[in-house]
Amino acid sequence: RGKRAFIAGIADDNGYGWAIAKSLAAAGAEILIGTWVPALNIFETSLKRGKFDESRVLPDGSLMNITKVYALDAVYDSLEDVPEDVKTNKRYAGASNWTEVAESVRNDFGSIDILVHSLANGPEVSKPLLETSRNGYLAAMSASSYSFVSLLKHFVPIMNPGGASISLTYIASERIIPGYGGGMSSAKSALESDTRVLAFEAGRRHKIRVNTISAGPLGSRAAKAIGFIDMMIDYSLANAPLQKELLAEEVGNAAAFLASPLASAITGTVLYVDNGLHAMGVGV
Ligand code: NAI
Repeated sequence: RGKRAFIAGIADDNGYGWAIAKSLAAAGAEILIGTWVPALNIFETSLKRGKFDESRVLPDGSLMNITKVYALDAVYDSLEDVPEDVKTNKRYAGASNWTEVAESVRNDFGSIDILVHSLANGPEVSKPLLETSRNGYLAAMSASSYSFVSLLKHFVPIMNPGGASISLTYIASERIIPGYGGGMSSAKSALESDTRVLAFEAGRRHKIRVNTISAGPLGSRAAKAIGFIDMMIDYSLANAPLQKELLAEEVGNAAAFLASPLASAITGTVLYVDNGLHAMGVGV
């Protein structure tokens, strides 16, 4: 049987989640997607109308098949946590079962093998940490760090032993990257630390591997919202050991490797997929 993957955090064909889905599909995995509730409608409509068909093409010429798209919001664990104004919001009221994604996947398919977390959100990302509010900081942690703990916690019971989970992190967790504010650098530090602790817990209890990819800059929708992405891409081109554009596909392929039996002894790691930029001490 082929492997089944659930990828949380795809709402268009520009981000790392989409590229990871493609690499996993190319390797023979069945693809399930979790899309943020407010973005679900437009994503599904675009998918149906063929807007992504060009970017669905796999190396063998076939089109990536997406078996099912689920609505999800990674900042809520159950319906009781959802504030009234969100619950009654048109986009949320129109979606179904979006707080019980793992349960819905269990009902539909029974189990999965691969879990990918490719989402982040920090409402105050453009503010320096010194100017970040408590709410902004906690919101960044909730959407970008605890969201992974919660996702894994909910999916682990339906993950087959030998399965793997992967998240996406950024070097701002360990080095100063001015402009990556609002507590997002803190959230990525937490995500990396949790990768180690969760690798232990999910490894011992369920034989599940947990790794994170520290990706270089990509002009995704989320990154464009931060505002400094073009500068980071130029900086990487000028200073990284490999002076070439970083393709989302390269991160996708690394994720497919980490999710595969080729990586069966790799867990609790941060894997850099950044043209080597992380290894530089000074720009030259
Ligand atoms: P993206 O825009 O393709 O993906 C972010 C996704 O998060 C979007 O689909 C958005 O709808 C979703 N999202 C936001 N809040 C959510 C919530 N509460 N519940 C569910 N989904 C939610 O952008 P990108 O850049 O591909 O981001 C994917 C991951 O890669 C993130 O963890 C990001 O921090 C990480 N990353 C991105 C880098 C870049 O330069 N683009 C560099 C290093 C890491």
